[in-house]
Amino acid sequence: MTPTSATGAAPAAASPDSYYERHIFFCLNQREGGEDSCANHRAQQGFDRCKSQVKAAGLAGPGKVRVNKAGCLDRCAAGPVAVVYPEAVWYTYVDEHDIDEIVESHLKNGQVVERLLTPAHLGR
Ligand code: FES
Repeated sequence: MTPTSATGAAPAAASPDSYYERHIFFCLNQREGGEDSCANHRAQQGFDRCKSQVKAAGLAGPGKVRVNKAGCLDRCAAGPVAVVYPEAVWYTYVDEHDIDEIVESHLKNGQVVERLLTPAHLGR
């Protein structure tokens, strides 16, 4: 199934030599000095949920999906954020339902979850 994007641009495809079909990185960063950061918005819970759902769906492993922790991805104003490669699709999620939809729709079936896309203008 071919993924789609909000821009309508052709999505990136995994290289034939790619070890994983898709990689999702979750920012788990806690900023110093009281600055807002993904860790303040249940990022760890989002990561844990994604990891368990990917495993439960049989999606984890070589040739399939890898769920990874990341430090600051420099889009803190949109946090909590996660990014999926090779499509380079950014998500802002709120709860476990959002994570479940990303897993089922994008990581499993290659369909971008439009309603969770991180607004393009939001950076740090
Ligand atoms: S703290 Fe998550 S993107 Fe910066």
